[in-house]
Amino acid sequence: MQQYENQALTIDSDKAQNGNISWQCPSNIAIIKYWGKYGRQLPRNPSISFTLDNARTSTSLAYKVRTSDATGIQLNFFFEGESNPAFQTKVEKFLSSIIDIFPFLNQLDLTIKSSNSFPHSAGIASSASAMGALALCLCSVEQNLFGTLQDEDEFYKKASYVARLGSGSACRSLYPVMGIWGERESAASSSNLFAIPWEQKVHQVFRSFHDDIMIVSKAEKSVSSRAGHGLMENNVYADLRYQQAKDRFDALLIALKDGDVATFGKIAEDEALTLHALMMASEPSYILMRPNTITMIEKIRAFRNKTGLQVFFSLDAGPNIHLLYPDEIKVAVKEFIQKELAPLCEDGTVIEDQVGSGPRKTA
Ligand code: PMV
Repeated sequence: MQQYENQALTIDSDKAQNGNISWQCPSNIAIIKYWGKYGRQLPRNPSISFTLDNARTSTSLAYKVRTSDATGIQLNFFFEGESNPAFQTKVEKFLSSIIDIFPFLNQLDLTIKSSNSFPHSAGIASSASAMGALALCLCSVEQNLFGTLQDEDEFYKKASYVARLGSGSACRSLYPVMGIWGERESAASSSNLFAIPWEQKVHQVFRSFHDDIMIVSKAEKSVSSRAGHGLMENNVYADLRYQQAKDRFDALLIALKDGDVATFGKIAEDEALTLHALMMASEPSYILMRPNTITMIEKIRAFRNKTGLQVFFSLDAGPNIHLLYPDEIKVAVKEFIQKELAPLCEDGTVIEDQVGSGPRKTA
């Protein structure tokens, strides 16, 4: 089993250089959902997601070799240009938790600046793109200081491993088109420890798929994903669910390879509804969908039945609808969105996105 604890990664301060790294990392939308975990952020079932394009976090990390005798993580954190004590504490805690992987973090003074391409208060989870970008920055620092991540595949594997420790689903955001996380025979080289790229076995039709996000509510969710994962431990359906996710995962990989959009869409919708059914069947139960989520689902299904166009929905752990459809029908679908769905969104907010080409190093 691959582990990245490495006490050798400490700085010999005579030679070390200061530096500044920047990465942009996109968010992702899972088609097979990760819901339920164990141990140090390990998944109960395999999951697969589309990497998005427009919804991104940009993070820069400036590091200086420490000259004071301060101990522990020394960090200044800025979100959208301003200091943000809540995020600062979260990032400090995360960096302390991975000191066994990057022991040199105790020898640096860090300034991290992070911003999102999408509005902060739009009700879109940003932990996947944020943790992805941070993990990529940390691996670049390691590469700059020690030259230990020269090999590109190794670089992304480690970054994905580190992103996973920050937020499970983040580990899938590091690859173009699609990423798989969780060990499963049908996906060669898949692992519970990091995600792997899944572009080669994906039919052309899915590589330009759209994912437009209907913002049903901008409010913060009443139950966090962390608490939701926790509630799976005593969910009476848990074992059946994990088996179902594995079976659907295998079927989805075939549909993705064959360009079978109808099967893809059925699985995507079944997964979204199962995720929310699990929440409703938790103890205590909770509901994250809002009335307009259901109204939109009905409208999407009616539109599909009437027009025969292959447009489907997915949901994250929140009320917002992700509208998934192939590029060739975009004109008709955009018109449907404007007429029927946008009026049901909070302030009419729709965020247009599509499958993207993964993270970018910007400095
Ligand atoms: O990565 P977390 O702990 O925020 O969990 C994400 C869970 C879902 O978004 C609901 C599903 C997924 O696989 O992304």
